[in-house]
Amino acid sequence: MNNPSHFLEFAIKIAKKAGSIQMKYFGNITSLEKKSTNIDLVTKADIKSEKYIINQITKEYPNHSILAEESGNISNDNEYLWVIDPLDGTTNFTHNLPIFAVSIGLVKKNIGTICAVVYNPAADKCFYAEHKKGSFLNNKAIKCTSSNTLSDSLLATGFTYLHDKRYDLSFEIFKEFYDGTRGIRRLGAASLDLCFVAMGRFDGYYEYELKAWDICAGSLIAIEAGAKVTDWDNSKLPSDGSRILATNGLIHYEMVEVLTQNKYSIYF
Ligand code: IPD
Ligand code: CA
Ligand code: CA
Repeated sequence: MNNPSHFLEFAIKIAKKAGSIQMKYFGNITSLEKKSTNIDLVTKADIKSEKYIINQITKEYPNHSILAEESGNISNDNEYLWVIDPLDGTTNFTHNLPIFAVSIGLVKKNIGTICAVVYNPAADKCFYAEHKKGSFLNNKAIKCTSSNTLSDSLLATGFTYLHDKRYDLSFEIFKEFYDGTRGIRRLGAASLDLCFVAMGRFDGYYEYELKAWDICAGSLIAIEAGAKVTDWDNSKLPSDGSRILATNGLIHYEMVEVLTQNKYSIYF
């Protein structure tokens, strides 16, 4: 990228260091805690990674605000907000699957996400983007696929930890897309699902009941690689992660058609 901002250089540096902290624990989990449900996990690696990131941001930008998965909101001024998932893909991490990442996004008031890094330390893959400057993977520009029909597409999705009234909905929609595409993958790290749309591994990705930290960085990386990223009905993306649809743009309306069917509307 030409002229990366100081924000981006800083975010890449701390994401890589946080990734190296995670790798010390990877394959070597000694303690595990449960959060909202029995399957919503947190490890020492999540906590240490987040502590490190927050410390660095607080030192470098003492006036900026922070929203981090394990610590919540640290409010300072309203101009800049760092949105952090210190370890996205914790279930994979605890089962020694190398599909997990550090996700760091910087949101500027009245503009949106201006800088994003998703680092997958087990594969040493660093995805990053800045507003209007394109998307990159380890210094190479990346872009979405050019597949223009759903039937030729490979999709990704994820399922919420909460097995609530919408649990069955996940499977109904999954079945519909599974029948109408080349297949769907469920990798277990939303930030990487979005980066894989950005780099052309997936043609589309949808999920619901995520949080801001799951999608903040990945959605800018997807957008800057040419993706269309919206709510399920093609309206503006909810920044709280309640629903997301990210595609190469060409299959967007076919996916919107499936996701906005009347039979699903009762759930939202
Ligand atoms: C989870 C992952 C997963 C998604 C879950 C998220 P975590 O994040 O991104 O792919 O389906 O809903 O909560 O808990 O591993 O940080
Ligand atoms: Ca997450
Ligand atoms: Ca997490």
